[in-house]
Amino acid sequence: MNIIIRRAETKDIKRMAQLAALCIEDSIPPTREVSLKNLKQARIIDIETSLAKIINLSHIGIYLAEDEKGNLLGHLMGYVGDIESVTGEPQGWIFDLSVDPKYRRRGIARRLVEKFTEFVKKAGYKFIGLLVTSSNKAAVALYENLGFVEERKRMAKRLF
Ligand SMILES: CC(C)(COP(=O)(O)OP(=O)(O)OC[C@H]1O[C@@H](n2cnc3c(N)ncnc32)[C@H](O)[C@@H]1OP(=O)(O)O)[C@@H](O)C(=O)NCCC(=O)NCCS
Repeated sequence: MNIIIRRAETKDIKRMAQLAALCIEDSIPPTREVSLKNLKQARIIDIETSLAKIINLSHIGIYLAEDEKGNLLGHLMGYVGDIESVTGEPQGWIFDLSVDPKYRRRGIARRLVEKFTEFVKKAGYKFIGLLVTSSNKAAVALYENLGFVEERKRMAKRLF
């Protein structure tokens, strides 16, 4: 299969929101009880409304992978310029990376991260940061494989 990586456009937003919702399950920590249906609906609305406002801005780097027929296989949503909270250093950030379950383990996420890395480097930033759910073994393995290292742990305690 020929995989094409390109910048996402406004016409792609609805499909990307659907894919992000499909993939959100893997990022729910086992500590949380959520309605998957509600979460998916909220995710779709959130992505559709936020991307419509930002997709063409210069600090936004949103890329998608598609096959030769234009079917969406995966996407990466990122941006540059926000600071890392402790050091104050501005950097690139990945806020969503989703690959259609039917097309996983074919190097699509790797290629999307590489494409975004070019964007971040070109913009002059030295680091890319992201949040990944500790129980999401595939995502943790992917990032470690690509050279990301753990810098901090985000922790939560259940109160009742
Ligand atoms: C995580 C995810 C994006 C990986 O996408 P992918 O296209 O299948 O990943 P790639 O094929 O590019 O994998 C590259 C490397 O990552 C690692 N990796 C990816 N998936 C893995 C898995 N399920 N188990 C172990 N390692 C894995 C491997 O080292 C792999 O290299 P290899 O196939 O040569 O061994 C995909 O599983 C996904 O969409 N998950 C749901 C959404 C999600 O968790 N997103 C990340 C949120 S931060």
